[in-house]
Amino acid sequence: MSKYNQFFPFKRLTQEIGKELIIRENLYSGAFCDYIADLNYGVNWDSNLVIHGLGKIDLQTSPQGNVVDLCCGDGRLTKHLHENGYNTYGIDYSKEQIQRAQMQYPHIEWVSADLLNEEEFLKKSPDLPVSAAVTSSASVNCFHTREELETFLKNTQLVLGKRGCSYLLLPVFADEAIPIFKENFVGKTLCHPFNRKLDNENIMAWLSLLYDDKRESLIQPVLITTNGENSSIQHEFCYSIDRIWTEKDLLDITSNLGWKLKFNLSSNVIGGGADRMPFTLLAFEF
Ligand SMILES: C[S@@+](CC[C@H](N)C(=O)[O-])C[C@H]1O[C@@H](n2cnc3c(N)ncnc32)[C@H](O)[C@@H]1O
Repeated sequence: MSKYNQFFPFKRLTQEIGKELIIRENLYSGAFCDYIADLNYGVNWDSNLVIHGLGKIDLQTSPQGNVVDLCCGDGRLTKHLHENGYNTYGIDYSKEQIQRAQMQYPHIEWVSADLLNEEEFLKKSPDLPVSAAVTSSASVNCFHTREELETFLKNTQLVLGKRGCSYLLLPVFADEAIPIFKENFVGKTLCHPFNRKLDNENIMAWLSLLYDDKRESLIQPVLITTNGENSSIQHEFCYSIDRIWTEKDLLDITSNLGWKLKFNLSSNVIGGGADRMPFTLLAFEF
């Protein structure tokens, strides 16, 4: 973080807090799960885009298979699939996120597995027919290198292909999102009060977003202050980096894998944060 001058306030604050600070290694653990859930609350433009895309594919296999939500987090998209009449289950490697999904939607099946590990993916995913795999908007940005993204795509084909799946639908940033990133994500620090929905606790978060042109990544430091046990103040810090993949990157990698683009659907979204960007749903056949 020290090389990014814009993040000076975070460095000072975290140094001042010192030993009482919990460092989280990614946004999908601790208070950050609540923070992400709050940011995503009521957001369903990407779920609607996926449902629209699924409607354009003939999924009438017999018996009709599942639509699997990969990197499902706490099940925002999976729930939407279920509500729209699809048989579905969600997979994510964050045990904390899977627990939240299980608690909120016990009627849906949830699997905890690392999708970059082919053996684990195969062993843990249910032996059920699959018609299509989908992801939500920011999911592929968790894969930080081209090799990781390729492994995710190959494993999806290898593992779910064995269960009959030949489609992957994923919303990614459109190529024209990059200049908007450069202009908007400049490292300003914002304060974001939010509420932990399950126990009604008020929480404060200080966050920033900086687009690193060289690494094509979005850098997101967040400091969250909560009331810990016995109402003592607890601070959690997370410094997460999302690689920003665009349409062009996905088309390039998938064409090397021999996948065909079946269609794409554009979406100009009016949302918050990084979601206020042009997105494209890419529907691949493999
Ligand atoms: C941006 S979140 C999206 C969560 C959810 N789909 C949503 O839209 O609310 C990305 C998710 O990918 C998961 N993830 C990242 N790398 C993964 C991997 N190698 N295997 C399985 N899940 C992974 C994270 O745990 C996180 O829940």
